[in-house]
Amino acid sequence: MSTGQWVAACAADALQPEELLRFDHGGLTLVIARSPEGGYFAIDGHCSHEKVHLADGIVDGHIIECPKHFGTFDYRTGEARALPACIDLRSYEVKVESDTVFVKI
Ligand code: FES
Repeated sequence: MSTGQWVAACAADALQPEELLRFDHGGLTLVIARSPEGGYFAIDGHCSHEKVHLADGIVDGHIIECPKHFGTFDYRTGEARALPACIDLRSYEVKVESDTVFVKI
């Protein structure tokens, strides 16, 4: 459980299901994902294998595939799911209020 602050990341309608959006805040870069069911999730944006941004990857269900070597992550938890990605990414709490997606950073 993070003890950070809620930060507005994007408009809720900026993301359709199975789309990704890069969100930079302070020194952090995140990727925000919208699930097929319409939920919003946020994890660290850089692949844990090399420093490639996952916002440029492909979504399949609840999985982001890294655009460089096709390692995969579950964007609901940040869990690395397929090699060469083997280090989990940090996930962040997300909420939607007033048609805006907020991330707890
Ligand atoms: S940079 Fe993502 S799997 Fe290699």
